[in-house]
Parts: sequence; C-alpha cells; structure tokens
Amino acid sequence: MIIAANLKTNLTRKETKSYIEELEVCASKTSQEVFVFPAITSLDSFEGSVTIGTQNAYPTQNGAYTGEIGLEQLEEFGIKTILIGHSERRHVLGETQEFIAQKFDYFKRQGFKIIYCVGEPKEIREAGHEKMLEYISTQYKGIDTEYENLIIAYEPVWAIGTGLTPTIDDIEKMHTALKAKSQAPLLYGGSVKVTNAKEVLKSKNVDGILVGSAALYVEHFCTMISYAQELESK
Ligand code: PGA
Repeated sequence: MIIAANLKTNLTRKETKSYIEELEVCASKTSQEVFVFPAITSLDSFEGSVTIGTQNAYPTQNGAYTGEIGLEQLEEFGIKTILIGHSERRHVLGETQEFIAQKFDYFKRQGFKIIYCVGEPKEIREAGHEKMLEYISTQYKGIDTEYENLIIAYEPVWAIGTGLTPTIDDIEKMHTALKAKSQAPLLYGGSVKVTNAKEVLKSKNVDGILVGSAALYVEHFCTMISYAQELESK
C-alpha cells in the first residue's frame, strides 16, 4: 500500500532529518511504499527506502519566479515526486485548475511521480453525491488520468485538519466512482489518524492514505505503516 505524510509548513530542517531517520527504521522493515513531503527548506538527498517528494514547485527549470522553486532545485536533491492540486494550494493559495493542469503537464513531461489531490468543499458535500461527482470532475480537467506515474488522493476539503471524516461507506462510494475515472492507485486523505487508519486502509478501492497532522508524530505514522503491512500479509 501507499502511505504518505504531508508535513506541510511544519518541522525545521533539523527536525525533519531526525523524523526521516526514525521513519526509515520502521519503514525499511516493511514492503509498504512510504512517501514524505517535507517543507521545502527541509528538502535534501535522503538515502533509504522512504521516497521524499516536494509539496510544491513551479513548472519551470529555473527563472524569475520569486518565492518559488523549479526543477533545478529539485534535481539538486534527486527529487522526482511532487504533490499537485492539494486543497490548501487550491483554496488558500488560490491555484486555479488551469494552472494546476499546467503544473501537472510540466512535471509529467519530466517523468515525476505525481500525487494528484482532489476533493469537495463542505457545501458541495451537502448538495449530494451527484453534485460531488460533478465538482470533482472539474478537478480532472486537463489531467492525464492514464499517466503511468500517477497516484490520486481523494481528500474532502472539510475533512482536512478538522478531525471530521466521511463514513467508510461514503469513502467506498466515492473511491468506487473515482476508480471508474482512473485506474491509478487511489489514496484517502483527511483526518486520518492511528484510531481510524486501519478501517480506512481496509476499505474497498482504497490503496493507501495521505496523512497530515497525525503524521507529524513519527511513531503514529509508523503505526499506520504497520497496519498496512498487517493488512497486506493477511
Ligand atoms: P490532515 O491533512 O491529515 O491533517 O487532515 C491531510 C492532508 O492535507 O493531506
């Protein structure tokens, strides 16, 4: 399974280094595919079984894009994995679908592994399943759903960082609908923690999890990895 940690704007460079070292101890004992997305200043060339990705980058080799990093800065550390379309970039940083699709296309052409996030806000969820699907379909616009290095993450906006989660039935219903759009591995994200990770990982059409807040505790994240390992060996 795929178990990914989005550290967002947390941990210093030093803290990230020890986080990854500790994580390596538990992750290397399993056959799970483990990803970590540290803050950009914490990117480095980490050796080991954990794949390090960037939370963001601008679709350029280099150039005049103040405050951004491009391919050149990622190549310095051998980073070939990127998170695109995360709800915080869409809703807090104001990225449009058009720009997101441009970014996707650029990093696809560079052969990056892309974890592409989709998910509906609360008012859309309240409007019902059909409206949710309609909304999420707009987030597939300009995205090559057959890209071989694609992983999709379904993350309802209202579930991110709130402690709220859809029911397992709702997750399965949405994942089944999204699997019909793309065969890419499909992760669930949004308030996954040690207490619900096993149930989520067991769900139909769930190929892994993308974890934010709860992944900041390396021991919690390791527990989630061990759940995935247990489930796979059953
Ligand atoms: P959360 O974040 O686990 O804190 O809800 C998930 C995410 O933003 O990827």
